[in-house]
This record gives sequence, C-alpha cells and structure tokens, in this order.
Amino acid sequence: MTIQTWDTQRYQAQHDFVWQYGAALIDLLTPQPGERILDLGCGLGQLTHALAETGALVEGIDADPAMIDQAQQNYPELTFRRADARDFEVASPLDAVFSNAVLHWVSEPEAVIQAVGRALKKEGRFVAEFGGKGNVQAIVSAVEACLHCPSFWYFPSVAEYASLLESNGFEVMFATLIDRPTPLKAGDQGLANWLRMFGDRFFANLSEADTISVIRQVEDRVRSRLYQNNGPNSGWIADYRRLRIVAIKLGDA
Ligand code: BEZ
Repeated sequence: MTIQTWDTQRYQAQHDFVWQYGAALIDLLTPQPGERILDLGCGLGQLTHALAETGALVEGIDADPAMIDQAQQNYPELTFRRADARDFEVASPLDAVFSNAVLHWVSEPEAVIQAVGRALKKEGRFVAEFGGKGNVQAIVSAVEACLHCPSFWYFPSVAEYASLLESNGFEVMFATLIDRPTPLKAGDQGLANWLRMFGDRFFANLSEADTISVIRQVEDRVRSRLYQNNGPNSGWIADYRRLRIVAIKLGDA
C-alpha cells in the first residue's frame, strides 16, 4: 500500500477545517481525565492536543514522518510517534482509540480494525470519523472521468463498516452517515488547492501543464454543483459525507 505523504505547510495553512470539524468527534468520545487514548492518524497534532486538554493521557501516531515532526514541533509536551494504522502496537491496553479524517486513506480497513482491537482494553472505545459512501462524489466522478482511472480512497457504507467491526470483535453503538458540505479556503483557487493537497497521487505521472489542464477540466465538470457565487465570498463547497462510528471492543466469548 502507498503511504500518503503530505505538504505539511499547505495542510496547516489551507486545510485547517480538517481538525476544526474534528472537534465534534471529541464530544462523542467523552474523554475522561486519566484515560489512555490513542489519536490514530494525528496529523499535525491539533486534536491530540485538544484531547490532552481534557486531562486524558494521549499519544498521537501517524504514518507520515513529516506530520510527526511537525506535530512534535507544534506540541513539544505531547508524545507522537510514526506508526502504521494497520499494524501499530501500544505499550499497554488503551481506554480508547480516536481517529479523525484518516481511515479513508487506508485501503485495508480490516487490518486497521484488528490493530485497534488489539490495542484496546475490553470495553474500550473506538470512535472514528472519515469519508463515508458517496463522499466527495462529484469530485471523484469528475477526476475519474478526466483521467480514466479509479480513485484510491476508501469510502464505505454504514452497513459495510459496521459489519467489518462486528466480525472483528466490536459492538457498534452508533454509526451514521452525515452530509457535510465543506467550504474550501482560497476562493476560486479552493478546489485546485484541495486537489493538489489531497489528490496528488492522481497527478504523480503528469507534467505541470497536464496537471493544470486536468484541474481546469474537473472544475468545469463540477462548477454547477460545487461553486457558490456569492460576491466576495464566492468559492467552492466540497460535497463531504462523513461516516461516524462509536464501537466497543467485546471481551472474549
Ligand atoms: C475527507 O476528509 O473526507 C477527504 C479528504 C481528502 C480526500 C478525500 C476525502
């Protein structure tokens, strides 16, 4: 599997909505002081920090060393380490694993669920949000049509993900799919920035001129659905759909 790497400066400057929206997921987790919690796919560490502020004992892991370096610079008092969501280990069993906007990047969901299950105590919580079925569908369809290749993200339905959890020792307490239209920063450049940030794998083998041409074609295809003309506040609104889950690790039968 390709490990996604990131332009951390672009991510921090233009895509801060990723962790701003993630704050609601912390409410769903209801972290308690002293609980041991892992932030799976911590990125730049903003939500790891928010979790630590509740008094929980938090560690952040991410597959991308650049993210971990920047997270450690942002929050030197917190613990971060590089690890893969599919086979990470923890020193002792956790009260909860938390993950925001990460799991759609990992194309082996069952390996992730099993690693989470190994890391949790009995009755430990797995609270996650990521792209669900139909996420950024207009953008995905436009890119696929322009490049004649399938996209690489994993956007499961509630039924698909809940059943994976159940068949791997979890009880699903909550699972929902939420439409969350998401304004992209930088006005007219918003969709181009988003595609360069998150869709860079699509363009890996294209010249800069061809990349620009594909981005323009994608914009033309989705403009009527995703561009909002609103004077100085005009811009792109991405068709995000979140899958949000709370699952509890069952004990041995
Ligand atoms: C998401 O958070 O849903 C997402 C972000 C980037 C690419 C695809 C999906």
